Amino acid sequence: MIVKDEDFYREYIRVWDDGAAADPPFITLGVEALLKDYYGDLLDAPPPFPVREGDTVLDLGCGWGRVLKPVMDRKANAVGFDISENMLGLAGRHLKKNGHTPALIRGDGTRLPFKDNTFDTVYSLLVLQHLSKENGKAILGEVLRVLKPGGTAYIRVPGRFAPENLLFSFLQFISIHIFRYNDPIRMRFYGVGEIKGLCKKLYSKCDIDAHEFRPPWNFHTKWTWHYIIVPKRFHKGLRRISDRIEEKANRGGWGFLKPFGVVLMVKAVK
Ligand SMILES: C[S@@+](CC[C@H](N)C(=O)[O-])C[C@H]1O[C@@H](n2cnc3c(N)ncnc32)[C@H](O)[C@@H]1O
Repeated sequence: MIVKDEDFYREYIRVWDDGAAADPPFITLGVEALLKDYYGDLLDAPPPFPVREGDTVLDLGCGWGRVLKPVMDRKANAVGFDISENMLGLAGRHLKKNGHTPALIRGDGTRLPFKDNTFDTVYSLLVLQHLSKENGKAILGEVLRVLKPGGTAYIRVPGRFAPENLLFSFLQFISIHIFRYNDPIRMRFYGVGEIKGLCKKLYSKCDIDAHEFRPPWNFHTKWTWHYIIVPKRFHKGLRRISDRIEEKANRGGWGFLKPFGVVLMVKAVK
């Protein structure tokens, strides 16, 4: 990883290690882990991409194994990769408890310890946003290198123009510039054109789907950690509205709505 100094690098890893020890669902999923009425139980959801039996799959930034488990349930040969020792410890226990023998490797996604053309699928969910854009680009390049020709990358990043993320950016700006809180895992948001542009330079084909068209209900700062603005009784109705908008934006010809999705899923083919 390209970092300003070694202290920053140690601090970056420490935040993930501490988060794994304190509250793994929240540090990996943020507010999504709390919105059970809206999402259902996300902690055992099917993988958000197709998985074929026998495929070699890399989960880059696997966290505590939330997605690795359903991927391994579908009999893929999956490798979990993460920068945090504690996260990998949790992933190992979670997968073994569910009858899997995981291959888990610790390292930095900007320098993957795998040979060229190794994987059929590489996915990296909600990792890039915690890195500088320079390091994000390095990860996209490494993912391309380790994919087999014709293999597919699925990269999930938060969208810049979703109302929730605009609120988050504003609060983050205040905490960094007014309160001088230098969060090592600060969020970087991506525009649809920006992430598409980066991928198009590297991959032969690149499509973006946008997900979650929910209101700005995440009052999330270091000091307001679990704060949700919209009362719970509205969550189910909002889910239905979001699903409808998602359908229109991704398949109904209303592509102009994509920039407002809370998360963007990139599907890129080598
Ligand atoms: C927000 S969590 C997402 C975890 C998982 N992908 C999920 O969706 O549940 C980000 C994860 O990426 C890992 N991570 C952050 N930077 C990384 C890097 N440079 N290389 C590998 N893993 C990294 C963190 O340790 C953490 O487990």
